[in-house]
Amino acid sequence: MTATLEFRNGVLYLLDQTLLPLETVVIECREVAQVMEAIASLRVRGAPAIGCAGAYGGVVAAMRRADRGLRGDDLANATLRDFERIRQTRPTAVNLPWALGRMKTVVERHASEESDALIRALRDEADEILREDEEANRAIGRYGADLIANGAQVLTHCNAGALATGAYGTALGVIRAAHEQGRSLRVWVDETRPLLQGARLTAWELEQMGVPYTLITDSMAGHFMARGEVDVALVGADRIAANGDTANKIGTYSVAVLARAHGIPFYVAAPTSTIDLETANGESVPIEERRADEVGAFGSVRVAPAGARVANPAFDVTPARLITGIITERGVLRPPFAAALAGAVNAERVDRGSSDSERRPDAVGVEPG
Ligand code: MRU
Repeated sequence: MTATLEFRNGVLYLLDQTLLPLETVVIECREVAQVMEAIASLRVRGAPAIGCAGAYGGVVAAMRRADRGLRGDDLANATLRDFERIRQTRPTAVNLPWALGRMKTVVERHASEESDALIRALRDEADEILREDEEANRAIGRYGADLIANGAQVLTHCNAGALATGAYGTALGVIRAAHEQGRSLRVWVDETRPLLQGARLTAWELEQMGVPYTLITDSMAGHFMARGEVDVALVGADRIAANGDTANKIGTYSVAVLARAHGIPFYVAAPTSTIDLETANGESVPIEERRADEVGAFGSVRVAPAGARVANPAFDVTPARLITGIITERGVLRPPFAAALAGAVNAERVDRGSSDSERRPDAVGVEPG
């Protein structure tokens, strides 16, 4: 499989996910505006993947500002303003401000150095964010695989695979790990309206992994649960609040309610970079509202009357009480989640020697200029 994202010779290469699975096209981002467009239009998508793309976008920002002659504080301030513009491309997944917060710390530490040294340090940090993400996902896979019995039927929503992360995947990483360990399993793939991340991307990834799957429309999930054909529901996350309330792709909440009604365990798989201790609960998570035509049309074919009023929230919040466990690289967290989430984040902070302020979603904290 072509890498989701790769940074080489000052260029960010992104696999264009809007064209999958029909076309495999890699786009080249040499300017911050191209990175922003790619994130906003979902060419790169999924919480950890946009964190990584945002970090490399930060490297591109510093390089272009230096090319245009900025040095010292001018270079640092202009780069931070670009970070803020990148941050604003998508509001829900906390991984984006989290990654840019780390990049901001690097700018502050190296602002007084030569521009080459600053750019090298930013590149190193972005590489480290990507490396840590793959490592975390592999650990999530190992912990999560223990929850998947041989012969299990797993239902997933949206795409939380290698495409949505630096590599390997979170929810799909768990499925991948169970498969690699030789367990037989079958996956129900929700198509995930309106943008069909399940039908287009999860089905494509499972195909490549050789894991048997069945594609269903979102509204079929309850039917198969009622027939006893779903053993476990497994999804990714865009932002996990301090109390465990979890924002993920629109439709996830419905899956969780259905799972509870049928006595089916509902697991969230996510790295600690998706945990936001600054957001107390799901009510405070900013929910992205996307364009009406994504709902009013099916692909490029309009299906609704031209004047139809449309709502298009891209994410919903699953309350913590519906979540059986949160699979992280630090292990499987169980309710009540508040202490377990804080413990996992703090352990990760200690291991990385990072500060509290780096994790704040508003950590970039620079007015757009
Ligand atoms: O709008 P998207 O496609 O970026 O939404 C992605 C999701 O909701 C994923 O489930 C989530 O980011 C987890 S990805 C490991």
